[in-house]
Amino acid sequence: MLRKEQNDLLTQTGPGTAMGQLFRSYWIPALLAEELPENECPPVRVKLLSERLLAFRDSNGRYGLIDEFCAHRGVSLWFGRNEECGLRCPYHGWKYDVSGQCIDVPSEPEESGFSRKIKLTSYPLVERGGVLWTCMGDPDKQPPLPEWEFITVPPPQTFTSKRLQESNWLQAMEGGIDSSHVPFLHRGDLNSDPLFKDNKGNQYTLGDSRPVFEVVESPGGLYIAARRNAEGGHYYWRITQWVMPSFTMIPPRGNHPVHGHFWIPSDDDNCWAWSFDYHPIRELAQAELAAMREGKGIHVRYVPGTYRAFANKDNDYLMDRAAQKAGRTFSGVEGIGMQDASLQESMGPIVDRTKENLVSTDNGIIMARHRLLRAVKALVDKGVPPPGVDPTHQKVRSAAIVLPPDQPFKDGARDALIARPAVAPTSV
Ligand code: FES
Ligand SMILES: [Fe+2]
Repeated sequence: MLRKEQNDLLTQTGPGTAMGQLFRSYWIPALLAEELPENECPPVRVKLLSERLLAFRDSNGRYGLIDEFCAHRGVSLWFGRNEECGLRCPYHGWKYDVSGQCIDVPSEPEESGFSRKIKLTSYPLVERGGVLWTCMGDPDKQPPLPEWEFITVPPPQTFTSKRLQESNWLQAMEGGIDSSHVPFLHRGDLNSDPLFKDNKGNQYTLGDSRPVFEVVESPGGLYIAARRNAEGGHYYWRITQWVMPSFTMIPPRGNHPVHGHFWIPSDDDNCWAWSFDYHPIRELAQAELAAMREGKGIHVRYVPGTYRAFANKDNDYLMDRAAQKAGRTFSGVEGIGMQDASLQESMGPIVDRTKENLVSTDNGIIMARHRLLRAVKALVDKGVPPPGVDPTHQKVRSAAIVLPPDQPFKDGARDALIARPAVAPTSV
């Protein structure tokens, strides 16, 4: 449970808010590189942290992320002409470069130097691993570029998708660290989804519905470990990584690619659910890539031409009561990604956390909130950079491992929790 002011603090990320300041300390995913496929391609609107922005790629291949609206009289530059190293507003022809600098005001005499005085808000936009990253905070405090393993492995080993989720970022993120829902909500899919099925770990997961949770602080966030019974008195551990503010990585299953998410606020009522799937030591198979593109695993099918899920709030997520009754799906919604999204959206845009009744399996969520609150306070009061900004905090992996009963997971899985190039993931 949170007090109302704590809930407000954690869920509001617009300009001038404390949590907004925290999010602006990080490089966050802004767009997929495929959205700006070539020089002078159409610009793309994107709302991040409640700011309406426009991304474009100029004649020289430089990326820009600028205020969506023209400084003259507020026209959306989405209508702009992407031409000769800049974006020209179609209303009266003012032109901007990728830094937001106005470089031409055709109606004014050039010698007046008027255009030099006009600059739109702009943020860096950098491609890494097929994702365009931005950092919307103070340029003087910009951290090093991100080092997440899914963007540093060779491109044939990794796949990333994104989807608009119609809920606040925090309740989406809390789903990402809440592995106690898996044997309920995803029960019907563990042994049928092509990216989840056929591994010993699923048997352990489905065979013990009372996992014991142990949550331990990591340099960048938390290790959230779920312990279940295995054979011979051993324990099967699933260790989820949470790195601040909103990176979550699900423990692997067998030799499947490993997956996880970023939960990035679009505004306070909507977020971008980024979903990655990669294998640290092998290329993804064609069948795996095809499954990801079809919306299997944690990915979803889209409304064509958008990043909105095809099954969405407006069509009741294509609820199938017969499948629910027969147990083919536990909730009646098809697909692991939409099962999560549908329930999280059903809580309303911002769930009222003053009314919750939390239990021991919610410990990861409770500790994540406290760590966020502490980090926000340290940042706002004393300027302390938050955990997760440092690229060494980002070199993490989730793990699934069977350990003897007397071995703490932190010792037994110590190496497994660090991303090391060319080292296989620890998986059961
Ligand atoms: S509104 Fe853009 S040039 Fe006038
Ligand atoms: Fe889930």
